[in-house]
Amino acid sequence: MLDARGTGVPVILHFGADLGATDPAELEAIADSLCPPVGPSSIDSPLRQSLLPLLADGWSGRPGISGHVEGAASAALSFTLAELDATDDAITVVLENAALRVVISLELSTHGVLRQRLAVSNHGTLPFSLASLDATVPLPDRASELLDFTGRWPRERQPQRREIQHGTWSRESRHGRPGHDAAFLTVAGTPGFGFRSGEIWGSHLAWSGDQHIWLESSATGHTTLGAGELLGAGEIRLEPGATYESPWLVSAYSADGLDALTARLHGFVRSRRALSPRKVMLNTWEAVYFAHDESRLIELADAAADLGVERFVLDDGWMLGRTDDKRALGDWVVDPIKWPRGLHPLVDHVVARGMDFGLWVEPEMISLDSEVARAHPEWVLAADGAGMPLPWRFQQAIDLANPLAYEHVRDQLVALLDEYPIAYLKWDQNRDLLGGSAHRQTTATYRLMDELRARFPGLEIESCSSGGGRVDLGVIERTDRVWPSDTNDSLERQSIYRWTSSLVPPEFLGVHLGAPTAHTTGRTHELSFRLATALFGHAGIEWDVTSTTADERDAISSWIGVYKRYRALLHSGTVVRDDPSDPARWVHGVVAADAASALFSVVAMAATRDAIPAPARFAGLDPERSYRVEPLRLGEWPRVLNDAPPPWWSEGGLTLSGRALAVTGVPMPLFTPEQALVLSVTAV
Ligand code: DGJ
Repeated sequence: MLDARGTGVPVILHFGADLGATDPAELEAIADSLCPPVGPSSIDSPLRQSLLPLLADGWSGRPGISGHVEGAASAALSFTLAELDATDDAITVVLENAALRVVISLELSTHGVLRQRLAVSNHGTLPFSLASLDATVPLPDRASELLDFTGRWPRERQPQRREIQHGTWSRESRHGRPGHDAAFLTVAGTPGFGFRSGEIWGSHLAWSGDQHIWLESSATGHTTLGAGELLGAGEIRLEPGATYESPWLVSAYSADGLDALTARLHGFVRSRRALSPRKVMLNTWEAVYFAHDESRLIELADAAADLGVERFVLDDGWMLGRTDDKRALGDWVVDPIKWPRGLHPLVDHVVARGMDFGLWVEPEMISLDSEVARAHPEWVLAADGAGMPLPWRFQQAIDLANPLAYEHVRDQLVALLDEYPIAYLKWDQNRDLLGGSAHRQTTATYRLMDELRARFPGLEIESCSSGGGRVDLGVIERTDRVWPSDTNDSLERQSIYRWTSSLVPPEFLGVHLGAPTAHTTGRTHELSFRLATALFGHAGIEWDVTSTTADERDAISSWIGVYKRYRALLHSGTVVRDDPSDPARWVHGVVAADAASALFSVVAMAATRDAIPAPARFAGLDPERSYRVEPLRLGEWPRVLNDAPPPWWSEGGLTLSGRALAVTGVPMPLFTPEQALVLSVTAV
């Protein structure tokens, strides 16, 4: 709710629960009632939080915009309201001063998700150097606990919590990508909020480059969440007539904890990106790494097709001289030694076996040991000036903001897409930039993705960044899958899925069945745990399935059958998670939009606390309907320690109302650590 009366910057009166007020007189009454007192030792008028917090309006917290007109005397930026345009679901506010025009766009989706973006234009006569332009939302006093995320390769999106106290909590990325430690989703809420309870406000910056998201709790009593691109000194210098546009800040409110916030965010993402059924894929990376050999990969493709795989993705190792990760990035041509007949024999075979073909690329990067770097050393990002950035995975970034470098990369990718029936690009990005302009590199990357998608309609793109270093709604606007992590360790993946799905719908979240012993952790898991974990998300395999036993292959192909049977539900339903009393046992699931069916998983993350575990409760179903609950066998049944299982287990299932399933629940066996049970739930 905005108060745009008068000539000042509009004030945000309320962001949260629906006030129900539609009639102008009532809106006016609410607006009038919210005028605060004038505080002691303060400006002489009521201090309220505007859409663009400014010093000039008495706001001594973080400003919504900062910068300076070059060559002019330094002065606090101030604006007046020039125009306002409002429809049912969008508001555009135009603010002006003598040199600048700021346009603030607000959109409220039918799911209750607010998107907000700002644009600043220079209509003065001198250049304007922009330091920051942040979208902000106010938070009420009762939002006193903060949840956001951190992580590392390959353990992304781990939650962290703290009490909100006076001061600023600022999460900043200078990685040139959000990073493995990205704040990801910032949620403030009432104390102890969980998946199913608490009043919360959550925000995410839809941007794939440098950024900051901050929460400032001021001694005035105001708490503000703000976010925008983190700009380097001089990075955005607006000549007269030029405009800079900020990324979208995406925010939502929930009265019922994280699951309800997630439902809103998923509804919003799904309304913008409708995906085709998510094909089961096999990715070659952990099966063969760089050891590309035509007959070996054809054998792998055959094994994949026999299992029911629908897409075969050739990962890194196919380009000119790419024998390891020290060379060949930037030379997007097929290696004639490893692939004397090009990729045709493999691609033809894949297509003949009824699968489509995907190819790994890393278009934003360059190896110094490459044809392109030898010919154009000046295309290495930030190769001039202060010197070349430190190498990272033995590579550098190619300066995509340089039109010639951009054209080189684009033309090589176009040539590949013209030559081969490539349905899917796994688009990797494996380093922090550490130099150059992250703004220019990020916008050029978006442009390249957009250009390829426009030129090759139907082309799907997976966003990978050393695993989950770039999982954000900016990249999801133009990609069809994100690779949440390089770990295929199911235990790690349970937690990565649980938290990443807070923002990103499961159909975008790649998850692969890996080898028994995970390459990234050395942990070994039984097939049943790996299959149960890899069912939730966009499923695939990353394992040399030519080396599997007949029993393993049977289990994998029946798991693929289960995935195909349930993917429409898994990729359109509502994500449900429990607030566990025993932190070692988690419940998560997806409930169909019409609540007629669901798939749940009960997961022992470690040794659980009690000898007789509490019943697992299944939320989100229709309390008035009756449901049949049946365990699904994926590989072997999960290991248990009971002398006798609960009776329903021996009877192959039970029938209960949605209310009873949510309130009294279903007794569970005592699972040994790192086991998961999948249950199908169907209305009867
Ligand atoms: C990092 C990715 O995250 C992996 O999945 C794989 O594609 C390698 N790069 C290839 O170099």
